[in-house]
Amino acid sequence: MSELDGPEALASDSLGLVRGIGDSVAAFDEARAAAEAVELIYPPSEISDVALCGMGGSAIAADLVLGAYRERIRRPMSVVRDYFLPGWIGERTLVVLSSYSGGTEETLTATSQAIDRNALTVAITSGGKLGTHYPVEEGVPVVPVAPGFQPRAALLRMLIPVVVILGRLEVLPPVGDDLDEARQTIAAAIATLGPDVPESENPAKQLARSLQGTVPLIWGSELTTPIAVRWKGQFNENAKIPAYASALPELDHNEICGFAGMPSELGSRAALLMLREPRQHRQVQRRFDLTRELVEPHVAKVASITADGTGALAKVLDLVLLGDYVSLYLALLNGVDPGPVEMIERLKGRLAETGYGRAPAPSS
Ligand code: F6R
Repeated sequence: MSELDGPEALASDSLGLVRGIGDSVAAFDEARAAAEAVELIYPPSEISDVALCGMGGSAIAADLVLGAYRERIRRPMSVVRDYFLPGWIGERTLVVLSSYSGGTEETLTATSQAIDRNALTVAITSGGKLGTHYPVEEGVPVVPVAPGFQPRAALLRMLIPVVVILGRLEVLPPVGDDLDEARQTIAAAIATLGPDVPESENPAKQLARSLQGTVPLIWGSELTTPIAVRWKGQFNENAKIPAYASALPELDHNEICGFAGMPSELGSRAALLMLREPRQHRQVQRRFDLTRELVEPHVAKVASITADGTGALAKVLDLVLLGDYVSLYLALLNGVDPGPVEMIERLKGRLAETGYGRAPAPSS
């Protein structure tokens, strides 16, 4: 049986991702200070709506913020994971350009369109073309992010600036108390789930062990919907296993039917993880329970996990940290190095062999 405790446990973690989570409070403080310092000349009353452009680890930050603030956000906000900006984005749209590396082609393509449309832009990046060319040539304000991390391991460095900027531009209500509570929750999660806490007392290590050999199906609802997507991505990128995310109530209108015909080889591997929080709509709570009853006979295991914390942002980050640790411990149990994402790098390398200009418009 692989050990998650003791000095050898982290040997396969070549980039130090597990220990890296231990620096989250310092990362949080740095990110908050950097976002508070950036000069933003846009009057809040000018902003009619918000788009955040990014991919992967840099886009999920915005989904998580939207999840946490979905009831209190004051302007419509969309997350754009695409080369093309939707038609409604214009001069009064705050466009947040989020790319950890600053070199992701979808985000760079969206950036040049946002500039062409005179949108109110701000970038969050550690460098690349987004961090060097656009601030100098186009005057795009940049929240600088420390370089040298995997984007998904820099989540707080990308997410906290989104909260601070949206708070400063009054798209969100004042965020100071939320940030203070979230910071405490993060410190508490590290103290409970970190690598030095033995497996016998560590819920993240225990959950990881129970997931060995499974395909996680992660369900969320309302605030936990984007957290389910983050968990899925972390299982994919850290543990290098397939994982799937869905949301209630929508999945009750289609996906549940598929469980009736679940091939037994697949069902015997499926682990359903339900991410819950006490403030979910009463019918959503009932849906979790009733859907579980219907689906449980068709899967290997079901676990229900509830967020800790009072404020929405704290709850979101509490569950995010749990998922991060679980996916990393699962990688270690599987003897996999959680750091490198060779498949993504290979794909990006192949795509970079050609340019990525716009395809010609279809002839009318
Ligand atoms: C890698 C990761 C990826 C990247 C994505 C976009 O750790 O999480 O999902 O976030 O490929 O790259 P960036 O964030 O550099 O724009």
